[in-house]
Amino acid sequence: MSGLAVVGSQWGDEGKGKMIDYLAKKADMVVRGQGGNNAGHTVVIDEKKYALHLIPSGVLNKDAVNIIGNGVVFDPRGFFEELEMLEKDGVDTTKIFISDRAHIVFPYHRKMDELFEKARGKEDIGTTKKGIGPCYMDKIERNGIRTCDLFEENSFIEKLSHEIDRKNEMIVKLFEEKPLDKQAIIEEYRDYAKRLLPYIKDTGVLVYEAIKQNKNVLFEGAQGSMLDIDLGTYPYVTSSHPTSGGFTAGCGIGAGSITDVLGIVKAYTTRVGKGPFVTELYDEIGDKIRETGHEYGVTTGRPRRCGWFDGVVVNYSARINGLTGIALMLLDVLSEFDTIKLCYAYDYKGEKMVNFPARLDVLEECKPIYQEIKGWKKDITNCKTYDELPQEAKEYIKAIEEIVGVSVKSISVGPKRDQTILRGEIF
Ligand code: GDP
Ligand code: IMO
Ligand code: MG
Repeated sequence: MSGLAVVGSQWGDEGKGKMIDYLAKKADMVVRGQGGNNAGHTVVIDEKKYALHLIPSGVLNKDAVNIIGNGVVFDPRGFFEELEMLEKDGVDTTKIFISDRAHIVFPYHRKMDELFEKARGKEDIGTTKKGIGPCYMDKIERNGIRTCDLFEENSFIEKLSHEIDRKNEMIVKLFEEKPLDKQAIIEEYRDYAKRLLPYIKDTGVLVYEAIKQNKNVLFEGAQGSMLDIDLGTYPYVTSSHPTSGGFTAGCGIGAGSITDVLGIVKAYTTRVGKGPFVTELYDEIGDKIRETGHEYGVTTGRPRRCGWFDGVVVNYSARINGLTGIALMLLDVLSEFDTIKLCYAYDYKGEKMVNFPARLDVLEECKPIYQEIKGWKKDITNCKTYDELPQEAKEYIKAIEEIVGVSVKSISVGPKRDQTILRGEIF
């Protein structure tokens, strides 16, 4: 049996989409368990680039079943847009299923996301404004509406109508804005309900059956560990659990179904949105990483903040996810530097710190302590084996393994499928 959890080990955008697509050629099933269409996962096949937000990145492999699990917050508008984009390109979308327990994102969630952010003023989080936080708020407050509710039209419309009234009251009284058009939302969602029914299943049973039959199941993480609501840089986080623990409740499986945890690790660090970032570079080196790595958000188009590899972060990530291997991504982006820095500890008021702290005020005071590695200054995008990599690149990989304490099982040297170097079997 193989249940491989694939998690983002930093602040998201580590290249999860590329690795899921790559590994999915051997997968029978790919399952998302958290987040929503705040995710932006890029898959490049030949010259064509696909941006996936809600649909698992296994969809471009014709055999895998793709599941949107119960822990995902499901936006029907985003889903149908994505489906249309894939179908236009001739992609087979017949093996996509949505959990009957997933919570639905409504226009009022997007509106509340925007209003909450505006109300935070300078303290805003920099969310994707996809309504993710407000949808999870409703779920936790027990006012959410789930995909299984779509099967009974009358009671669905009744619940929705009640929720729109409640949200409009807040929008008008608290935020002094115009109410949302209730009838338009009801009509939009009445249409979605009809179109969604064939996709909705008790997906927990499908995943369980696949695992029982010893099939290869990939669990696709969205966002990154440092954006975890409990374990990340709170409050500058998302509203779900992107760490490996999120897959159990989010896919409806037992922890024993996960046999390995692969941490997707960028060879440097990026972050979109606000929040602390110890190794951030504000100079031309940061700009060079951004331009070489095309570091602009897939979902919002925002420039990503860039910095050197932060080993304190990835070491923490290894611990909280139980990483059993690392997929090192975007190594080629560092090919032009004379010297490459890796942070292996923080200096906090003269003291060496190796455990990622909870307090943001402490983090703000932390300075990176760097180890320097000589750059390889060679194009590595055509390297097909580990042996072909320059010695300096191997030194860099070794330094990461030493800091994090986990083996690097694959190295990505470009966005395409064949720009992936394996060091043994992953899956
Ligand atoms: P995700 O959210 O973790 O799936 O990552 P994103 O898709 O948001 O961002 C990763 C970006 O890096 C995408 O544009 C990928 O096409 C690209 N990418 C992935 N792996 C590599 C790599 O090894 N080298 C380069 N140059 N680009 C890569
Ligand atoms: P993928 O799956 C990077 C960030 C947002 C913001 C914070 C909260 O592509 O790696 P939210 O809309 O979730 O309430 O925003 O989380 N964020 C991501 N950053 N990659 C992502 O997904 C992200 N999804 C959310 O920028 O800082
Ligand atoms: Mg992304």
